[in-house]
Amino acid sequence: MDRFIFLESSIEIVPAEIRNHPAVISDARRRKKKVSEILLDDSKHHSAMERLKFREKRGRPDIVHQCLLLLLDSPMRNNYEIYVHTLGGMIIRVANETRLPRNYNRFVGLMENLFKERIIKDGEKILLEILDSKLSELVKGKDVILLSEKGEKFSPEILKGDLAICIGAFAHGDFFKSTLKELGNFKAVSIGKESFSSLYVTSKILAEYERVRAT
Ligand SMILES: C[S@@+](CC[C@H](N)C(=O)[O-])C[C@H]1O[C@@H](n2cnc3c(N)ncnc32)[C@H](O)[C@@H]1O
Repeated sequence: MDRFIFLESSIEIVPAEIRNHPAVISDARRRKKKVSEILLDDSKHHSAMERLKFREKRGRPDIVHQCLLLLLDSPMRNNYEIYVHTLGGMIIRVANETRLPRNYNRFVGLMENLFKERIIKDGEKILLEILDSKLSELVKGKDVILLSEKGEKFSPEILKGDLAICIGAFAHGDFFKSTLKELGNFKAVSIGKESFSSLYVTSKILAEYERVRAT
């Protein structure tokens, strides 16, 4: 089955080195949660994030939230599996019957539970799960397509095959070399010279995917 994989997704628990920052402490207090259990969010922890390495790529869970909603809304969602690879190297599987909260704050709460429990179920059905897998294992044996502004011009033809379609889910910057190495042999494709948002790229590629696979 095809796979959509969001790469280096900007979603993580507030890292230990900034948990004593006033912006983090007051946010956790307001939400009645432990500082070690809340998601890093640039809109709330901006001042605390100044000291973080690669801060331009971090604290934007809203990006992967929006992209997941798109993939889960598609009438072709049963044709693909959905995975979130995080900036920290974690792999999350999102079952395609998951009804993800549309409200951002509720999404944040759900993901905080996931990071704590490692699994979210509805009865016996696993909806979200942190896997003990590596990115390299997810793409093994697949025709790996990397959406990148530096790639060759996109042609719908490449959407035929047993695909792993990879899209960055962070706000700024480039992929880490280590991530690209894990992808192994991949084809980088560009949908234009501009650097687009993850949401725009996901919607564009999903529309092409639906068109190619429906015919
Ligand atoms: C990481 S972001 C934008 C990063 C951008 N370099 C910046 O600093 O603003 C969005 C993701 O969408 C994809 N993307 C953005 N522009 C693209 C383009 N022109 N063609 C194909 N994919 C693109 C890539 O997968 C990228 O990782």
